[in-house]
Amino acid sequence: MPGKVVLAYSGGLDTSVAIRWIKEKYNLDVVAVTVDVGNEREFSAIRQKALNVGAVKALVLDAKELFVNHFIFPALKADALYEGQYPLATALSRPLIAKLLVDTAREEEAKAVAHGCTGKGNDQVRIEVSVNALAPDLKVIAPAREWGMTREETINYAQRYDIPVPVTVASPYSIDENLWGRSIECGILEDPWVEPPEEAFAWTKSAGETPNSPGYVEIGFEQGTPVTIDGQKMDGITLIQKLNELAGGHGVGRIDHLENRLVGIKSREIYEAPAAMVLLQAHQALQAMTLSKEQLRFKQRVAVEYADLVYNGLWFTSLHQDLAAYIQSSQRHVTGTVRLKLYKGSSSVVGRKSPSSLYSHGLATYAKGDVFDQSASAGFIHIWGLPVKTQAQVQGTESLEEG
Ligand code: ARG
Repeated sequence: MPGKVVLAYSGGLDTSVAIRWIKEKYNLDVVAVTVDVGNEREFSAIRQKALNVGAVKALVLDAKELFVNHFIFPALKADALYEGQYPLATALSRPLIAKLLVDTAREEEAKAVAHGCTGKGNDQVRIEVSVNALAPDLKVIAPAREWGMTREETINYAQRYDIPVPVTVASPYSIDENLWGRSIECGILEDPWVEPPEEAFAWTKSAGETPNSPGYVEIGFEQGTPVTIDGQKMDGITLIQKLNELAGGHGVGRIDHLENRLVGIKSREIYEAPAAMVLLQAHQALQAMTLSKEQLRFKQRVAVEYADLVYNGLWFTSLHQDLAAYIQSSQRHVTGTVRLKLYKGSSSVVGRKSPSSLYSHGLATYAKGDVFDQSASAGFIHIWGLPVKTQAQVQGTESLEEG
């Protein structure tokens, strides 16, 4: 009896061809696993397609809750934005998919797992590094990296074996999507000078088509986790879906990123991430009110490290565990509400409040009720400026004066 391999199956051309190709090349029976991370697909049709193409078994795993609670929200608390632009939707889903591949491989007593990533991207790294960490004994097969077929040859292969070639192959774009965002690559987008055509976008309206009056939304957080919209409590999945719709409807969340891939390539990536962008913005606004200046500054450094780590496929590492502990601790007082205004493609924070607010009206005000002791500033300035004065007296300020 041939052994088994568990394949991460998307229903697209490459992973469909992979089912047949793996059987031919490795003589392994394919168990197809399709992971639902909120990509709103026709999962029963995808499952059926896997079976039609020759999988011995096809599973659809609903991982939305896991994805939100163990991947998306921790990344939100971390303020994770790769290179200051990309909220990491795809990157965050890969370690979860790897974990589910490994779990399924154990259940099925498979000796290998497989994925449809090419050899040029980050996803192969994320999946394989994760699988190797979780199950070093499992072999990993990467058909699309191994078979060396061009797009055309892949289509010919599919036709030869009656594998349906989806109409979407006609689409010039390569797309990946989940609750946290949508990525669009290839085609005309590969010219970084060309503005993305409107048809590339699916979640966000162009500013010209958005409502002429602004939308307002209030997001409530408890210890860094978003829990309410406009005062209404809801689970994380619903909250993210609602914000994707609302902010996307105002054209918020388009990103044009010239990105540094892990494999050394610069690539032009277009993203749509309305909920992610609005939540990251709101979360940071609440932290500005509830964390000290020093906490904020240190946390920004952690955010960069954390985002790089996620991007680079290092989810299952001790460094991640250590950073996550710091981030979790930093969120103890990040509770409160942020009000945002959504208008013509932009979102701005227009209000924030918190029971743990460090903002003191009495200290800040120039009006009645001022409790700040202005006379104490004179002594403060004397001490603060002491080293400046001393150095200027000894070494002069000439070079600085010349400007
Ligand atoms: N450049 C992004 C990343 O590395 C998006 C990748 C999209 N992946 C895909 N298979 N289409 O995370």
